Amino acid sequence: MKIYDFRSDTVTHPTPAMRQAMANALVGDDVYGEDPTINTLEAKSARLMGKEAALFVTSGTMGNLLAVLVACGRGDEVIMGRQGHTFLHEAGGVSALGGVVINTIPNQADGTLALADLEKALRSPEDIHQPISKMIILENTQNDCGGVPLSVKYCDTVGEFAHAHSLVLHLDGARIFNAAISLNVQVSDLTRTVDSVTFCLSKGLCAPVGSVLCGSNEFITKARRLRKMLGGGMRQAGVLAAAGLVALDNMIERLAEDHERARLLAKGLAEVPGLRLDKGTPYTNMVYLALSPEVRLDAPAIVKAMEKQGILIGDTGKRTFRLVTHHDVDDEAVAACIEAFQKVMSRAV
Ligand SMILES: Cc1ncc(COP(=O)(O)O)c(C=O)c1O
Repeated sequence: MKIYDFRSDTVTHPTPAMRQAMANALVGDDVYGEDPTINTLEAKSARLMGKEAALFVTSGTMGNLLAVLVACGRGDEVIMGRQGHTFLHEAGGVSALGGVVINTIPNQADGTLALADLEKALRSPEDIHQPISKMIILENTQNDCGGVPLSVKYCDTVGEFAHAHSLVLHLDGARIFNAAISLNVQVSDLTRTVDSVTFCLSKGLCAPVGSVLCGSNEFITKARRLRKMLGGGMRQAGVLAAAGLVALDNMIERLAEDHERARLLAKGLAEVPGLRLDKGTPYTNMVYLALSPEVRLDAPAIVKAMEKQGILIGDTGKRTFRLVTHHDVDDEAVAACIEAFQKVMSRAV
């Protein structure tokens, strides 16, 4: 039986072009700054994001953590969305490793953080009882709010707000290219007011490993030292960066296909009795849905039943799911997923 994996775009395999580039990559000791392939990837990434410099890191989590560690000292506070990946899914690293306080505010349904909530979250610098507000983190696309892209106008507004209050703005841009493609804008338009941005090569872009943190020269110099401290200084990692370069050269434009397949998937699933699609889904490559009240099985049971049909999906709660389209999911996979849901739900309602 063929298995189709809709759990995440992180399950994508490196393409044949990536494997070839990895085999042929020129390498050197990157801790000495001597890996030419990493240097090329970093220069290209900085250009794409409209920043002075970039740093190749092992993961999105490490990129986000480094950004916070550069900008915030122990006892400083970072403001982020309650549904932000940096709050929910990064093991509290900024507090555990950096002594940084997390202040969460609600994400609105469209993924944004309301300016009024940001304003309210600000600490009083004169009050010795309070931590010091240092940073805001946005996420684009905002994964847990449906993979929704944040607009250029909104990013600019938060950038202006942050700088007016002497705060640093970091962007978790794990899927920033999905946002740019769906909004039909340049990625650098989405990053122009942020001080730092992390983007991932290892999700929809299909590279096996790696993310890139971008910012000013001074910021990246500090992040490079901290990356070494965290044990993230890699040596001949040009074999990984080579796949990252293929990702940036060949895999960005095709994300539109993933978005189109997510639309087809949502359209098919909307017809299946017992399933309720979230409002607005899909915005990009993620379909979020729930079970109707009359369905007697819960989400984990549905996940198991779907697995028996050769379809892997993820539950996000007792009665909710997320399905993600990506390079390794073709039209046949979308049709198979809809058919499997029809079968499973006919027994579950
Ligand atoms: C929005 C978002 N940010 C950050 C990350 C972290 O990336 P990594 O898994 O490479 O640490 C993820 C991973 O799925 C993510 O979805």
